Amino acid sequence: MHRAAALLLLSVFTLAAQSIQYSDSGKTWLLNTRQSSYAMGLGADGALRHLYWGAPLWRSDDLTAPPPRRDISSFDPRQMLEAEEFPGWGGPRYYEPALKITRDNGNRDLVLRYVSHRIAGNDLDIVLKDLNDPIEVTLHYRVYPDYGILRRSATIRNATQRALTVESAQSATWNLPPGEGYQLTYLTGRWAAETQVNHEPIHEGQKVLESRKGHTSHNFNPWFAIDSGDAGEEHGSVWFGALGWSGNWRISIEQTPYRQVRVTGGLNSFDFSYPLKPGETLETPPFFGGFSAAGFGPASRMLHRFTREQILPGGATSRLRPVLYNSWEATTFAVNEQGQKDLAGKAAKLGVEMFVMDDGWFGARNNDRAGLGDWTVNPQKFPQGLKGLIDHVTSLKMDFGLWVEPEMVNANSDLYRAHPDWVINFPGRPRSELRNQMILNLARADVKEYIFGFLDRLATEYNVRYFKWDMNRSFSEPGWPEAAPADQRKLWVQYVLNLYEILDRLRAKHPNLEIESCSGGGGRIDLSILQRIDEVWPSDNTDAFDRQRIQEGFSMAYPAKIMSAWVTDVPNMNTRSTPLAFRFLTAMQGALGVGSNLNKFSEADSALAAGMIAAYKRIRATVQTGDLFRLASPRTNDVTVNQYVAADGKQAVVFALRHSQQYNTAAPTIRLRGLDARALYKVESVNNKLVERQPQLSGAYLMQVGLNVNLRGDFDGTAIILERQ
Ligand code: DGJ
Repeated sequence: MHRAAALLLLSVFTLAAQSIQYSDSGKTWLLNTRQSSYAMGLGADGALRHLYWGAPLWRSDDLTAPPPRRDISSFDPRQMLEAEEFPGWGGPRYYEPALKITRDNGNRDLVLRYVSHRIAGNDLDIVLKDLNDPIEVTLHYRVYPDYGILRRSATIRNATQRALTVESAQSATWNLPPGEGYQLTYLTGRWAAETQVNHEPIHEGQKVLESRKGHTSHNFNPWFAIDSGDAGEEHGSVWFGALGWSGNWRISIEQTPYRQVRVTGGLNSFDFSYPLKPGETLETPPFFGGFSAAGFGPASRMLHRFTREQILPGGATSRLRPVLYNSWEATTFAVNEQGQKDLAGKAAKLGVEMFVMDDGWFGARNNDRAGLGDWTVNPQKFPQGLKGLIDHVTSLKMDFGLWVEPEMVNANSDLYRAHPDWVINFPGRPRSELRNQMILNLARADVKEYIFGFLDRLATEYNVRYFKWDMNRSFSEPGWPEAAPADQRKLWVQYVLNLYEILDRLRAKHPNLEIESCSGGGGRIDLSILQRIDEVWPSDNTDAFDRQRIQEGFSMAYPAKIMSAWVTDVPNMNTRSTPLAFRFLTAMQGALGVGSNLNKFSEADSALAAGMIAAYKRIRATVQTGDLFRLASPRTNDVTVNQYVAADGKQAVVFALRHSQQYNTAAPTIRLRGLDARALYKVESVNNKLVERQPQLSGAYLMQVGLNVNLRGDFDGTAIILERQ
């Protein structure tokens, strides 16, 4: 090779290998991952401007900060045309700001200018400061070059001598390339109907996704994807983001009249007020973003891998999720030692690896009207304490898990009688109860210590491997009367920080302890709770047909490994009955669990369950840690098809679930993805539903021609396991 060409190539590789480049000549920053680049530049006026977010670039010297724009009119000032990286609310800016403050003298103008920056490996900090006052913002960027993910957050610091109040603190503003015709995809829902996929054009104005409920909420999940208007599962440009905050959060998607689309997200500014004394800081939650040049499938796969390896405790080294049994749907509050032992014995025979006793084991908890807060074992139900049951479970070679709902209290409890002041409340106002319970004010240090204390005691005294941490109501009357009036709204933030602290301390003290995040199903699922837990309960709705869509939406943002999915008894909440095989094939696409009343299982049911659990164990590494390809959506097809390909490519598994056959039509041919075209695959269906009779087929054939499955009638399904030869 010519020497000059070789040198150029070398410099391309060296530059591309640097995840953060700064060009002093152009005053630009280029942040690179394998899948994307993100760039900023400094304007002549000292403002930090966004320059680029999209497919990879490699040379920061190509970039120059755009010159300042001109006002279009006195109604359309130049500030509205500039893509600021982190706009303060000040000057003639009318779009959603990233930061809004009030000084103690009432002055609210904030114009942020560049001060300095620091690059350390994959981290970049850029310090901005107000034009006049030392009100500082440090923008934090962390690049995950192998994952295609950029993490953003901000620290706001009051370096003045006077108090100020933060009124809006966002983690990031994400600017899309100038243009129109974008489409927004987002997840909505409600209790028992979470993570429904919505897809719609972005028009001028604001669309707000948020929670005002104190927890992440079932109504919106803090994830978004914006595509160029023509993207599909495996084609088209998709920009995506996921916010990590388990309290009140907000993501606004805004198209201005100037062909600009920007996404602003962080702490919800509704009922928000966060005073900062001189020297104090406020840290915003992390907001993760990425770009896929080839559709929603790669966007999800990027987030899945990133979450598994960089977010979850233990990362890539954490164990595969065990097959779990949960007592809730079988026994509700009517738990007792013998009943749980009987279920445990039956569960062990099926191949279950973790036995979780749900609600009802403590205090006077015979229904949802009493006992919450009293975390002592109910002596009528468990005369010997929990030890007898736990020893029995461990003798059956299963781990033991226990349900807790640490943040809550029933009025009818010893805890509430002793500490009525511990609940969130406004004095003299009603204390609204939902599911007959109130919320303990975790923002208070004494409440935080109480909760940590009893969980620590349970984890220490008993061999608890797993807590199912439930949270069964949204906030109301969010008062913190013991705090100074100006500080009372800090509750929204401090509650969440203390929740995180308890989880972190528990894990540090009990390194083997695993935790499930449940909030009446999927009310608390986001990338910050996921840094502290191992599994989530996506929905209280275990109807296998409804689950197809709940699981599809979940998979847009979150990996199968954390998606707890149970097989339960029918009829389910819709009075629908689906066959046991269909229920298993649905639940086997996540972290498989069983919640059926095993006392009612026939021999045939038990045999089918044991067979499915054995099949699941064969494929679980592929399902939990492989690449997901959504081949057919339950929103548009009568057959839902998902394919999982193991990281080493040796195994793939395809789930095809048909909810209703009409007009005697055959199920559509399934063209696979992500295989090695030149390889041969041994192909088998777990329940003999393959039309193809050849025991082996080539990757090329499977991807180009496809497989046919014999799915007939309503609620028929199969899993096809492919082993590369
Ligand atoms: C709500 C959860 O989502 C259920 O799985 C169960 O644990 C109940 N709470 C128990 O009260």
